Amino acid sequence: MKGIVFTEFVEMVESVFSPDTMDRVFDRVSLPSGGAYTSVGTYDHSEIVQLAVALSEETNTPVTDLVKAYGEHLFARFTQLYPDYFEGQNDTFAFLHHVENYIHTEVIKLYPDAEIPRFHFQTSSDSELVFDYLSTRHLGDVAEGLLRGCVSHFAENIEITAEDHSTPEMARIRFTLTRIAAQAAA
Ligand code: HEM
Repeated sequence: MKGIVFTEFVEMVESVFSPDTMDRVFDRVSLPSGGAYTSVGTYDHSEIVQLAVALSEETNTPVTDLVKAYGEHLFARFTQLYPDYFEGQNDTFAFLHHVENYIHTEVIKLYPDAEIPRFHFQTSSDSELVFDYLSTRHLGDVAEGLLRGCVSHFAENIEITAEDHSTPEMARIRFTLTRIAAQAAA
């Protein structure tokens, strides 16, 4: 897993909680990398799981809440770090096709050791998009956080629901994104 996933996690913990919290999280885990992450490095994805569990213990916050919040933070960072990928993009539904058809493919070309999920689009209309997140990593909560970050980036009013159809070998989460009609002014 690319180093950015880790450096951004550390940054989020330090800013949302504190640098001391991050130190205590590192004290709780035993990481093959020793936790000295750089954005160009590649690390075992189990390390992020260990860090999330340790942060959950340290802050008494459920792991899923932390991981979703992290995904949201990561999306905002992507918009700052890779502005080219967002040029001409104005809405969540079209952007998700762009991620599957272009961005993640570019990621693999640039970093052959990156680990990306696949999105299988099921149905799509102006008001609803249904797609399956498929991955051998079980990072559906990160995906949900990224989706939330995406919706807020485009300032849209979209509800996200997730149905888990995973097996131990393959994560398969069906995401349904539904546009909420703006309330008519009274
Ligand atoms: C809402 C849109 C997006 C979703 C739901 C999403 C989801 C994910 C998830 C869950 C992973 C982790 C690997 C896995 O689960 O198999 C991943 C990997 C990755 N994504 Fe995306 N992504 C999105 C948009 C983006 C954007 C906009 C960028 C870059 C500008 C990006 C760059 C990457 C990179 C670099 C990796 C590889 C990380 C690694 O090897 O560890 N993604 N994506």
